[in-house]
Amino acid sequence: MGAKSSRRVALVTGGARGIGRACALGLAEVGFDLALVDVLDADMGRTACELKAAGARAACHVADVADHARAREVVDAVVAELGPIDVLLNNAGRPMPKGILELSEAEFDDTIAVNLKSCFNYIQAVAPGMLANGGGRIVSMSSLNAQSGGVTAAVSRFAYAAAKAGILGMTRALAKELGPTITVNAICPGLIKTEVSRNVVIRERGDQIAQNGIALRRIGTPEDVAEVVKFLATSNPCFITGQTFTVDGFQYQV
Ligand SMILES: NC(=O)c1ccc[n+]([C@@H]2O[C@H](COP(=O)([O-])OP(=O)(O)OC[C@H]3O[C@@H](n4cnc5c(N)ncnc54)[C@H](O)[C@@H]3O)[C@@H](O)[C@H]2O)c1
Repeated sequence: MGAKSSRRVALVTGGARGIGRACALGLAEVGFDLALVDVLDADMGRTACELKAAGARAACHVADVADHARAREVVDAVVAELGPIDVLLNNAGRPMPKGILELSEAEFDDTIAVNLKSCFNYIQAVAPGMLANGGGRIVSMSSLNAQSGGVTAAVSRFAYAAAKAGILGMTRALAKELGPTITVNAICPGLIKTEVSRNVVIRERGDQIAQNGIALRRIGTPEDVAEVVKFLATSNPCFITGQTFTVDGFQYQV
């Protein structure tokens, strides 16, 4: 059992880098200790060092978020280490840039498992504790793809879009099921500069999309998304649940 802390506890999946790392650092700033869950051990260790430098306790767990049984083990370990979980951020995810004629059944199943089933895994693991403690906030990272179908017709991401759209339905249903004790919301980031996007769409078409199709004329940053996560994690009182927050600078043309 870790030392008692007055700070609240947030679990961030995919917290090693990118949007998850920025959200973890943002939550540390506003008084959270952090549990990170990721497959990238070294990156997660670096982010944990940054969190500790910011004054937070940080616990790292190497786990594939698609693994249902592992989610329970991780959550039990985090509660023992840091205390009850106040906030769950389902952020881990991975695009799948293949069209309907190319994608295999295994790749479809894997895309749904990593992007959608992962949310089921971690929500089911944390919800009993949050209900027992009388409160909790759950935020899941969907994508603008869930609403638009994707940035470009040249690269179809239909399975990813399906998984991310599934998060929006799950969010609304679980807001009803878990209210009034737990709030459940989703975020749809547009184009955000991170390791995963920098190498694909942003590198090839980022400037063009920003100048011609985004009202705020720039690609987003992980910190743009973290601001919304901090708000959903901390606003008090909170009368917001079952909602989808689009963070895209108003991307109106792709
Ligand atoms: N970057 C964007 O433009 C953008 C846009 C819309 C939505 N998103 C979503 O935001 C989230 C974060 O994306 P990002 O851009 O920071 O990507 P990223 O690749 O930089 O970070 C994702 C993190 O999730 C981890 N991860 C992936 N699969 C995992 C698994 N099976 N188990 C455990 N950890 C796993 C990765 O190791 C990585 O640390 C994702 O859900 C992504 O779909 C990103």
